[in-house]
Amino acid sequence: MFIALIVAAGTGERMNSVIPKQFLPVLGKPLLAYTIDVFEKSPLIDEIIIVINKNHEKQFQEQILTHIHTHKDLRYVFGGDTRQDSVYAGLELIYNRPHDHVLIHDGVRPLVSEEILKRSVEGVIKYGAVCCAIPSVDTLKLCKSNGSIESTLDRSIVWRAQTPQSFKISIIWEAIQKAKAENFHATDDSAMVERLGIPVYLVLGSEDNYKITTPQDFIRAEENLRWKKS
Ligand code: CTP
Ligand code: MG
Repeated sequence: MFIALIVAAGTGERMNSVIPKQFLPVLGKPLLAYTIDVFEKSPLIDEIIIVINKNHEKQFQEQILTHIHTHKDLRYVFGGDTRQDSVYAGLELIYNRPHDHVLIHDGVRPLVSEEILKRSVEGVIKYGAVCCAIPSVDTLKLCKSNGSIESTLDRSIVWRAQTPQSFKISIIWEAIQKAKAENFHATDDSAMVERLGIPVYLVLGSEDNYKITTPQDFIRAEENLRWKKS
């Protein structure tokens, strides 16, 4: 079984918007609904769990839940203060199914594609842990605390992590428990698994699968989603 765990419990500080970014409308539909749609339509996904902020429940029910008509098992749960806490809240619903697989995805990456889901599912069956990523187009520098360059990284071995990041449930559950016990805070899920010494393999994401973080990203997403719909 393949379970999509979509985290959308953040408050979107960097967006600077009164409406939380996951609820910003494009063609009358909230961003988060576009993200959910991709997983709902995919024949590869069996179940969907959405992690939302407690304070957004009414918005979520009225603007999103009532518009989803699906035969898939779809549930929601309240998230926590950090992304990692929100992932934890979602995993608590499924940790007792160690042999199933979970695709953890940011609710604010609405342009994820079926091809990416296919690569993630194939990868996680083969390796047990995969991270969607893209090669870096820019040359990357390591810098010193005084702001000068320490060294130039070899671009061919540097990748930019995206989501979905997909795992056999037993692996990510062990990893997140360990992170919690040791007070380790990661900005993505792979980092927790890497600490276990379990290899996480890269699968190709796409430039379109960017995370909507700033108002500029939202403007770009509006264009992209309009174009996709037409
Ligand atoms: N997220 C979450 N729970 C949190 C924080 C983040 O579920 N406590 C989710 C966000 O809703 C988002 C994804 O994790 O879908 C990626 O996080 P990010 O882009 O950082 O979103 P926010 O934390 O909401 O934005 P910001 O960091 O600008 O406040
Ligand atoms: Mg954040």
